[in-house]
Amino acid sequence: MSYAKSFLFLFTFVFWSLSLSVSRDTLTPSQPLSGDETLVSSDGTFSLGFFSPTSSENNRYIGTWYTRIPGQSVIWVGNRKNPVSGPTAVLMLTSNGSLLVTDGNSKVFLSSPSMVAVGKPVAQLLDAGNFVIRDSQITDSDSFAWQSFDYPTDTLIPGMKLGWNLTSGLNRNLTAWSSSTDPSPGNYTLALDLRGDPQLLFWNGHILQWRSGPWTGLDFSSQLPVTLTYTDAFAFHFVNNKEEVYYSAGVVNKSTITRLVVNPRGVTERYIWLDESSVWNRYWYTPSGQCDVYAACGPYGSCDPNGSPMCSCLQGFEPKSPANWALRYTSDGCVRKTKLDCRNGTDGFVTVPRTLLPDTVTATVNRTMSLDECRAACLRNCSCTGFSRADIRGSGSGCIMWSMDLMDITSYLDGGQDFYLRLAVEDIGLISSQFHKSGDATLAVSLSVVLGVISILVSVACYAWRKLKWTRGNAFVKEDDMEMPLFEFVEIEAATNNFSNENKLGEGGFGSVYKGKMREGQEIAVKRLSKTSLQGLDELKTEVVLVAKLQHRNLVRLLGCCLEGDERILIYEFMPNKSLDTFLFEKRRNALLDWKKRHQIIIGIARGLLYLHQDSRFRIIHRDLKASNILLDKDMNPKISDFGMARIFGGDETDFNTRKVVGTYGYMSPEYAMDGIFSVKSDVFSFGVLILEIISGKKNKATYYAEPQLNLLSYAWKLWKEGKCLELLDESISSPDSIPEVVRCVQVGLLCVEERAEDRPDMSLVALMLGAKISLPQPKAPGFCTYRSSGDTEVSSSCTVNDITVTGIEDQ
Ligand SMILES: *[C@@H]1O[C@H](CO)[C@@H](O)[C@H](O)[C@H]1NC(C)=O
Ligand SMILES: *[C@@H]1O[C@H](CO)[C@@H](O)[C@H](O)[C@H]1NC(C)=O
Ligand SMILES: *[C@@H]1O[C@H](CO)[C@@H](O)[C@H](O)[C@H]1NC(C)=O
Ligand SMILES: *[C@@H]1O[C@H](CO)[C@@H](O)[C@H](O)[C@H]1NC(C)=O
Ligand SMILES: *[C@@H]1O[C@H](CO)[C@@H](O)[C@H](O)[C@H]1NC(C)=O
Ligand SMILES: *[C@@H]1O[C@H](CO)[C@@H](O)[C@H](O)[C@H]1NC(C)=O
Ligand SMILES: *[C@@H]1O[C@H](CO)[C@@H](O)[C@H](O)[C@H]1NC(C)=O
Ligand SMILES: *[C@@H]1O[C@H](CO)[C@@H](O)[C@H](O)[C@H]1NC(C)=O
Repeated sequence: MSYAKSFLFLFTFVFWSLSLSVSRDTLTPSQPLSGDETLVSSDGTFSLGFFSPTSSENNRYIGTWYTRIPGQSVIWVGNRKNPVSGPTAVLMLTSNGSLLVTDGNSKVFLSSPSMVAVGKPVAQLLDAGNFVIRDSQITDSDSFAWQSFDYPTDTLIPGMKLGWNLTSGLNRNLTAWSSSTDPSPGNYTLALDLRGDPQLLFWNGHILQWRSGPWTGLDFSSQLPVTLTYTDAFAFHFVNNKEEVYYSAGVVNKSTITRLVVNPRGVTERYIWLDESSVWNRYWYTPSGQCDVYAACGPYGSCDPNGSPMCSCLQGFEPKSPANWALRYTSDGCVRKTKLDCRNGTDGFVTVPRTLLPDTVTATVNRTMSLDECRAACLRNCSCTGFSRADIRGSGSGCIMWSMDLMDITSYLDGGQDFYLRLAVEDIGLISSQFHKSGDATLAVSLSVVLGVISILVSVACYAWRKLKWTRGNAFVKEDDMEMPLFEFVEIEAATNNFSNENKLGEGGFGSVYKGKMREGQEIAVKRLSKTSLQGLDELKTEVVLVAKLQHRNLVRLLGCCLEGDERILIYEFMPNKSLDTFLFEKRRNALLDWKKRHQIIIGIARGLLYLHQDSRFRIIHRDLKASNILLDKDMNPKISDFGMARIFGGDETDFNTRKVVGTYGYMSPEYAMDGIFSVKSDVFSFGVLILEIISGKKNKATYYAEPQLNLLSYAWKLWKEGKCLELLDESISSPDSIPEVVRCVQVGLLCVEERAEDRPDMSLVALMLGAKISLPQPKAPGFCTYRSSGDTEVSSSCTVNDITVTGIEDQ
């Protein structure tokens, strides 16, 4: 090597290492940023430079990301709407202080050129991730001519504000990327709304999808109690004064890395970076259930994430359209039972505990009033419908008053805050007695609800049938249409002893259920709908006519209907033993179900479901299979009821996607609850839950909020893996006559609740598995309890019992 050459080499090396070690964090007019160059904040946390979302793409975006986190988690994109192309992309600061991205042809200004003049401008990437333009001569750290934190993309990190500068009108909100590879603004936006009591609103275009509820002093109303796992690590703030209103999610220790992001699929997520395992851990997200849908239960309706049905009317209110309500079309909401009597001053309030407060967009707030003053002010104003505390810290203070329809109330098992609902004095009395209703009353009501839903359908069927009768000859009517017997009113009157109270079985929002006895001695259940309950159901006629044609010994049968004057009466077979849940989940009564009966019930439900899925002329998905929808006749034969949510499938469709998820948590398959996809396999999942409930006598709980280890599925899975599945059996069954049968049922139950729909057997296979001695595959981990599993889905040891022969299919 010549002397000159080695000198050159040394020189190059020194130059190269120098340029590496002095990675800069500033941009000046004389030093633009181009190509793969980056700015790195002084402590190294953040980098800023050009990136392409996909490697194949020519589009270049200027953005900020975490330097040390693999996979480039971009937190800010400067030119999301206007990418520049090619390798010639340059970011520069003009001498008059505006930032500009150019590829030679197009020019994209990130900061307006007409901005406040800056003497000697410099742009700098700060340690917090904020990219700012300031005057290099002014060192006052907080005065910036421009800052990227004022123009957020889809991500909020500590130090950023989500909300408003009221002086300048600046509105900082988060808008999702169009897709994971396209940073241009998508349809989803999370923004702070200033009307009434400020709250975060989540928009899909112009459709309001979710709201956080107002700030309570501790957190947003929807997040009380602070259910986040890492609460101690965060410092959430809400500032509301004359100059600004904003939310910020700070951290206690600056080295905690966390972000809130609106993803392109419309989910708002909070992540924390776990250094030790090198992953972004998503610790919170929304929407996470049906009640996270704005106003799911309509005006004056209350949504209960664990409830069945999930919607109920507030106390003192009843469904506006009982028929729709019974069919879970709940967006009409509820109406007041008794008008308020404002001038006479007799109105009062009831406490609605543990709520996400109603929508505060139209509410009025006074932060200094006491709760007593608030109550008095509400009582004075005839348009006031309810009130609550504006701040729940300490003993609470301040006043929120509502004067319009109350929308989007969610009631929590724990958490939330008290809301005071204004009612006429009559309804207040009624409430307290309802609160102390006896177990029997509850039972009757739940029975009547179950029957009610069927009955509404039937009544529509009758109505439709009547219409059909009148329009015979119409192409719509086929020759083999089933005729539904019409009963005469006097006949029903006699059968029910003139609808006497002694014959009353229960009462629901849409009418009363009576027990009746026909002259021939046949016992019937009679549902008399209240006068207004048939509105708005025309579109369901066809569907219901089909449902009315179902005939199977494991489905509840309707016998006929009666339509005279404005009477709407439905008659179906009487079920003396009510519903399965009244046996399974009640002490003492559960002992009445020995193993033999339970096994018969499992087989019966399987047959009924198989008929719905495959054997009837239609392919019907029930969608709300659960213990309270299984009625029992006098011989304890199970009959599936409540087709209120059933869907009938056409020829070759196999699954549906629906935006409106209905059903009952705890029985819902993961793909249905999460993505709204339902198929016959969703029913199979519910059936699996039902099998495990019947065996164990325990209720499966929804696991969205609760600890997963409390879940029946996880428990059954754990016992199965440990080879102890007989421990699942209800304690009230001292000695099952067939242990292999129990084991087989547990195994089938677990196969039915597998995570992936395609792994679950269909009902014909389930029926075969339950009946014949065919060999069963090993179950995999159930849906909803896998996220803590360590990946060991292969289980070799299990509950095998020698009696179970494993030899292909045998007839039985
Ligand atoms: C600032 O400089 C840019 C580029 O040099 C120019 O286009 C713009 O008009 C200037 N703005 C003002 C306010 O001078
Ligand atoms: C709000 O904007 C005005 C005008 O741009 C600015 O002077 C003020 O400092 C901003 N207020 C806050 C709190 O950032
Ligand atoms: C989000 O912010 C942008 C820019 O300030 C504004 O134009 C838009 O209306 C805001 N969207 C919502 C829903 O507040
Ligand atoms: C946004 O909504 C419109 C209209 O609903 C739709 O056509 C478009 O595909 C949506 N865009 C994205 C990125 O989802
Ligand atoms: C912050 O966290 C880092 C890393 O976990 C730790 O080393 C440091 O001591 C913490 N600082 C404080 C003030 O707790
Ligand atoms: C006030 O009470 C009287 C007597 O009970 C009643 O007749 C009147 O209708 C009530 N006024 C209103 C506005 O309800
Ligand atoms: C809030 O209520 C207090 C006490 O009733 C009253 O003095 C004050 O004017 C109210 N403030 C507003 C902004 O209405
Ligand atoms: C009653 O409340 C409404 C809505 O908050 C308000 O517009 C109205 O001024 C109030 N009336 C009185 C007398 O305070």
